[in-house]
Amino acid sequence: MKAVRGTRDLLPPETELWNRIEAIARKVFARYNFGEIRTPIFEDTSLFARSVGEETDIVSKEMYTWEDRARAQSEKAQSLTLRPENTAGVVRAYIEHKLGESGQLQKLYYIGPQFRRERPQKGRYRQFWQIGAEVIGPPFAGSESPLRDAEVLEMLATLLDELGITGWKLELNSVGSAADRARYNEALRAVLDLVAPRLCQDCQRRAVTNPLRVLDCKVPEDQPIIEALPKITDSLDQESMDHFAAVTAALDAAGVPYQLNPRLVRGLDYYTRTTFEFTHGGLGAQNALLGGGRYDGLSEAIGGPKAPGIGFAMGLDRLVLTLQASDADQKAAARPAHAYIAPLGENLNPAALVLARELRRSGLSIELGDGSFRLKKSFEAADKVARRIVILGEDEVQSGILTVKDFATGTQSKIPRAELVSFLAE
Ligand code: HAM
Repeated sequence: MKAVRGTRDLLPPETELWNRIEAIARKVFARYNFGEIRTPIFEDTSLFARSVGEETDIVSKEMYTWEDRARAQSEKAQSLTLRPENTAGVVRAYIEHKLGESGQLQKLYYIGPQFRRERPQKGRYRQFWQIGAEVIGPPFAGSESPLRDAEVLEMLATLLDELGITGWKLELNSVGSAADRARYNEALRAVLDLVAPRLCQDCQRRAVTNPLRVLDCKVPEDQPIIEALPKITDSLDQESMDHFAAVTAALDAAGVPYQLNPRLVRGLDYYTRTTFEFTHGGLGAQNALLGGGRYDGLSEAIGGPKAPGIGFAMGLDRLVLTLQASDADQKAAARPAHAYIAPLGENLNPAALVLARELRRSGLSIELGDGSFRLKKSFEAADKVARRIVILGEDEVQSGILTVKDFATGTQSKIPRAELVSFLAE
């Protein structure tokens, strides 16, 4: 049997890189005073329909949805969906636990798998991982301030720098307020009425139900027509323009480089005002390392209080691909254990386990061999996984002096057991 198409196993030493990325992200989030949230991997289907949007590719084509049958009289059948993204779950949790009542901004981050039934290719999987964060709260807590947008973007620039990812590009846009969007939809509809018959079937439907989603179309023949459609930036009112100008002014002051892209509308319906993507040239066709933006009306759309917010999610699979391309990382991945313990004879296995326990409790990374191996086999096995081999025979147990061989230098030493930890730790 094989892993399902679009899913894969992550194996060592690659998982070491995954863990390192996660550890750096957690450290950076802590410096910006974010706390971790873990939401369920599946939710009620309507949560995604109402937040991400019925007409988006994610909801209309890519979700793993099933009818969860009632098992008892007290239960109701329910349509459930594996989460395709995590913002909806975070905002659901914000509402459910009344987090807004604290009056503070909620600064939450998450690391976890997401599921979308897309066509698999390099950098695109059906189970993929995101590291994301959201800043959300009541307006009086400052959740609408453009400084929040700039702070999130500055944090991302810092995080990518600390991960050692160079050569990223930040694309930035504003998709305006709900009112701006309504005006833009009208302008789009007017033009789409004329050109929709020349577009693909999907676009003809979107032109009626959700014109903005026409801009997500990937059909090559449609692109020249889509290029010529009105730009959302032309529909922004003064307040939205001022908000965006304040975001870019703060980014300029902090020295975070960006490029304006008036076509960047993102493929999810909940966005308002600032939207952004960080791309990386080394990734090929799936070049978006991360994406995000503001969602000032999302909480209300799913039945909650007014709670503007901004956040992002980065593709962990894509971060790993980007870092694997660099030499330094390949070297760091092959990290051997401090020592391999070779018991000379099966009767010494228990003593070897005792020694391994002692050394591991002191923080050393130890491979434990087996007394049934001949010494030559133990040496060969040890040389592959550890820096040194510690030989444990009857003499060593009696005298308390161990024989240690270092593979890099070829030197053999006699080390008293009391000094073994400090010797191996060097
Ligand atoms: P998204 O743009 O749909 O936004 O996904 C964010 C990132 O997840 C992408 O830039 C990409 O790196 C990664 N990603 C998406 N789909 C796949 C896939 N099939 N395989 C591998 N990686 C993938 C969101 O999900 C929003 N929730 C972001 C957000 C948070 N906006 C506000 N807050």
